[in-house]
Amino acid sequence: MKSNQIRKAFLDYFAENGHKVVASSPVIPADDPTLLFTNAGMVQFKNTFLGLEKRDYTRATTSQKCIRAGGKHNDLDQVGFTARHQTFFEMLGNFSFGDYFKEEAIFFAWEFVTKYLGLDPNRLYATVYKDDDDAERLWKKIAPQLKDRVLRFGEKDNFWSMGETGPCGPCSEIHYDRGPDIPGELNGEGDRFMEVWNLVFMQYNRDDKGTITPLPKPSVDTGAGLERFCMVLQNADSNYGTDLFQPLIAKVTELSGVPYEPGPKGVAHRVIADHVRALSFAIADNAIISNEGRGYVLRRILRRAARYGHELGLKEPFLYKIVPTLISKMGDTYPELKAHRGKIELVIKTEEEQFDRTLENGLARFAEIIDKMGGNKTIPGAEVFKLYDTYGFPADLTEIMAKEKGLAIDMAGFEKELEIQRNRSRQGSSFASTLKSEMYIIPKTEFTYDEFQLTTQATFYDKFNNSAFLVLKKTPFYAESGGQIGDKGKIISDNFEFVVEDTKKLGEGVIHIGHFDKSDNTTIERLREGQPIVVTAQIDSERRADIQRNHTATHLLHKALRMVLGEHVYQSGSLVAPERLRFDFSHFKAMTPEEIERVENIVNEKIAADIKVTWQNKSMDEARQMGAMALFGEKYGDTVRVVQAGDFSMELCGGTHVKNTGDI
Ligand code: SER
Repeated sequence: MKSNQIRKAFLDYFAENGHKVVASSPVIPADDPTLLFTNAGMVQFKNTFLGLEKRDYTRATTSQKCIRAGGKHNDLDQVGFTARHQTFFEMLGNFSFGDYFKEEAIFFAWEFVTKYLGLDPNRLYATVYKDDDDAERLWKKIAPQLKDRVLRFGEKDNFWSMGETGPCGPCSEIHYDRGPDIPGELNGEGDRFMEVWNLVFMQYNRDDKGTITPLPKPSVDTGAGLERFCMVLQNADSNYGTDLFQPLIAKVTELSGVPYEPGPKGVAHRVIADHVRALSFAIADNAIISNEGRGYVLRRILRRAARYGHELGLKEPFLYKIVPTLISKMGDTYPELKAHRGKIELVIKTEEEQFDRTLENGLARFAEIIDKMGGNKTIPGAEVFKLYDTYGFPADLTEIMAKEKGLAIDMAGFEKELEIQRNRSRQGSSFASTLKSEMYIIPKTEFTYDEFQLTTQATFYDKFNNSAFLVLKKTPFYAESGGQIGDKGKIISDNFEFVVEDTKKLGEGVIHIGHFDKSDNTTIERLREGQPIVVTAQIDSERRADIQRNHTATHLLHKALRMVLGEHVYQSGSLVAPERLRFDFSHFKAMTPEEIERVENIVNEKIAADIKVTWQNKSMDEARQMGAMALFGEKYGDTVRVVQAGDFSMELCGGTHVKNTGDI
């Protein structure tokens, strides 16, 4: 059976058994910051398992696009070296949300592999969790042909968790014996026994403290690797010998002129074939390549592939040339590949060009390091860092190259160098970043959005590193946050005048940093002791008005960038000051002058249209339903502030804004 037939047979079988066929979710999880990539079929059903979301079906089946590179389930290091690992793969699954449990799950799996796929029952094994008497009994009842081939294993092999937190439970796996000619042990090294299907009996949820609680209803989550079914059914030497990979491997051979060999000599071909799939699917689902988070995982994947290509003599960008082959193989099943073909090729090519500029020199540097090693078996952290910092070699790439020479790298030393660099770039930042909230107990300060001046009480004063700061009960001063810089102004009482040069948050309080223009020692002493004094707090309102113009403009710019460049653009940082704004975002290449002009035109049109700007507090759920743009990785409370410029832009934002875009 070919891959398309197996995928279809699986979904058809479960549809006939009352399961709703649900489309694969994107490989970039929409709403789950605990995950880098979708790493299993159950990810899109996480909230259904937890009882937080109701669906109008209790049985589902999917063929899910998954990436396992980084995070809890990470197969990246294995790829190329084993028969069965990939970073990208398709997981076939059936799910029960409080409907059937162990017995039916085992029955369905057994019936499908033996009757529909026709696998020889004598080659099959089932494993169960060490305490799961039920599962063992059910296997023996449903599949008597297994005889004594039902084995018990511990936590590592037979208890499945989505991540550090989330749904989990004991599991039961089906393994296929590929024959004694292939070395390997079940659940051990080698590729003789192939785990083809994992049935998870979802019973628990693990929270961030590690506490396990039962799920509302026992459920089922299963996952079978399509590529492994293909390997077994096509009698291929590895996943890479199946119809899913052969065209890709053939393309690598065509481009490089180096024939493929299934054994250790074929690592480069396999790595490239795998990595091009992961990159293409991720980019089709709007991932970007960058220097942090999942973007950096993708960069590592690409650079690993580029360097293996180099080994095959491919010194110019080549990965992007394999994309059309992938699309002809998988584009009918996953039309997003076809839809985003241009973008996928462009992103990959641009990134290859960027790495190619330093790859050659980096390899030369690596060779020098190796020459100097003498009897030393570990490449020092400083060298690994230099390769990273100057030549763009991810540390795990250097590690692979070191391994090929029988060497290791000092990863801890590398991390230390990285930290030193980070500290260096942090230095010079203002005193408030070194002033820790643990040093003072500052009461919560109430910030009033709509007043530029108010009468309140000063409650505390102190000096730190040559700067003085004052705390108020209530304040019109905006404390630097979300890119908007702190306000300046004056705090005046009968006995003093305090010039505010900057405003920052400290814990839940706000500190007004500056100096006294006029004061007397008695008042200062009283303040130091925490005795309240009535004051008038007054911000520099012209400066604030300028800041507001730039802040609202930032929102317009954000939206315009997404319209022109694509939905992958989101804010990764910003500066909103009186005289300028800066907006940081990731895009895979420099903007063209035409793109810049289009963005400018959109923003200017929206300013000229004098759109009303409004803000309101909402619950996080309401805001999400309204479609407000939130920054990924940012922590929001239960109540959020939604800022809208008509129906043009809607963002979660705590900052201050103009009332009409025309004010800009
Ligand atoms: N979630 C389980 C796994 O990934 C079964 O799909 O193995």
